[in-house]
Amino acid sequence: MALLTGSNKIKTAVFISGTGSNLRSLIKFSKTKKSPISINMIISNNCKSKGLRFSQIFKIKKKIFNYKNNTLVEKKILSHLKKNKIDLICLAGFMKILSKNFITNFKGKILNIHPSLLPKFKGLNTHSRAIKNNEKFSGCTVHYVNSKLDSGKIILQKKVKITKNDTPDSLAKKILIEEHKLYPRAILKIFNL
Ligand code: GRF
Repeated sequence: MALLTGSNKIKTAVFISGTGSNLRSLIKFSKTKKSPISINMIISNNCKSKGLRFSQIFKIKKKIFNYKNNTLVEKKILSHLKKNKIDLICLAGFMKILSKNFITNFKGKILNIHPSLLPKFKGLNTHSRAIKNNEKFSGCTVHYVNSKLDSGKIILQKKVKITKNDTPDSLAKKILIEEHKLYPRAILKIFNL
């Protein structure tokens, strides 16, 4: 297995809207020798995303896009990504839905992490729905993004036990710990590493 060096790693943009803990774990992973990706760009729709601070900490370019007109903003994002030769997109807590046109432009090159065992609990509030539904397990899924919400081909999943004392918050915390390990593993998997 040939190890990739910084300059010939796959240029990746991470899209965030909030805390960015998955972004942080992806950045840490990208700095390891075995990582096939480098994180070259952080994109957010929200100038208040806490995760934007990782731009400064790790010296990674960031760009904030104001979502007023979806079509126009996606055009701008696409041109920005192409200009920067980005070849992979990792969605990590990005709260906007990408259009079919956008996805076609990055066909097979957009990944997402979702905090449930898909196809169960697509969309929002996954943890409270899993608890309400008396599920014994929940977990997280890394999948390719297609034009249907949280429905693209599954790459990897990790199960997490729901105990009777779990609240949506406690479950979210347990699952997030697994998300941080799962996203890098899924990236290794898609590159057959
Ligand atoms: C994660 O639970 C992720 O699965 C979901 O949004 C959350 C983002 O957390 N899509 P963070 O911003 O990476 O800390």
